[in-house]
Amino acid sequence: MKFFIDTANLAQIQEAEHLGVLDGVTTNPSLMAKEGIRGEENILEHYRKICEIVPGDISAEVIATDYEGMILEGEKLASLSPQIVVKIPMIKDGIRAIRYFSEKGIRTNCTLVFSAGQALLAAKAGATYVSPFIGRLDDISNDGLGLIADIRLIYDNYGYNTQILAASVRHTMHIIDCAKIGADVITAPLSAILGLLKHPLTDSGLEKFLSDAKG
Ligand code: E4P
Repeated sequence: MKFFIDTANLAQIQEAEHLGVLDGVTTNPSLMAKEGIRGEENILEHYRKICEIVPGDISAEVIATDYEGMILEGEKLASLSPQIVVKIPMIKDGIRAIRYFSEKGIRTNCTLVFSAGQALLAAKAGATYVSPFIGRLDDISNDGLGLIADIRLIYDNYGYNTQILAASVRHTMHIIDCAKIGADVITAPLSAILGLLKHPLTDSGLEKFLSDAKG
């Protein structure tokens, strides 16, 4: 399973990269705004910086919602680096744009996916990644992890190559459950990734080993 970090914060991206287990980064317009990154030139420059820190896949989201606008913006983003994966919303023009990029060999991440039907469409359009938002489904008392399982079943039934990128991951157990189900990728905040390190028996065991070593 690939690990992506879900942030536009350069310090956190650097920290996750130093851990040595990071495969990529996802961002969205809200995460960019949280870092105070606004305006086309600043946004492009920020993506360049992220690409320099992490050698893996970097999802960069388009703001346009019409077909022509998404193509224009997506091509500009993709020209920044071969690492860029153009993130496109799950809307009618978005599906057309994913098909266009897929035929041009530009990789895509279909975002804002909340149902198995949407995931099926994204795969048929040739999306590289599909991003089901599990935390936001849980927030409205829907079964986020159940959606990951449904998409896994459907993709396996037909051998779709689209990778399931579990997004809106809120905590460490989401990561473990996604791994059990067979998600291809999780994108999570740094806190959820670091949470995987923690176990009280590791801490107490290490404390005892160190005190015994001192004699
Ligand atoms: C990532 O691709 C998504 O945009 C992100 O995981 C959404 O997370 P949120 O629901 O915590 O905003």
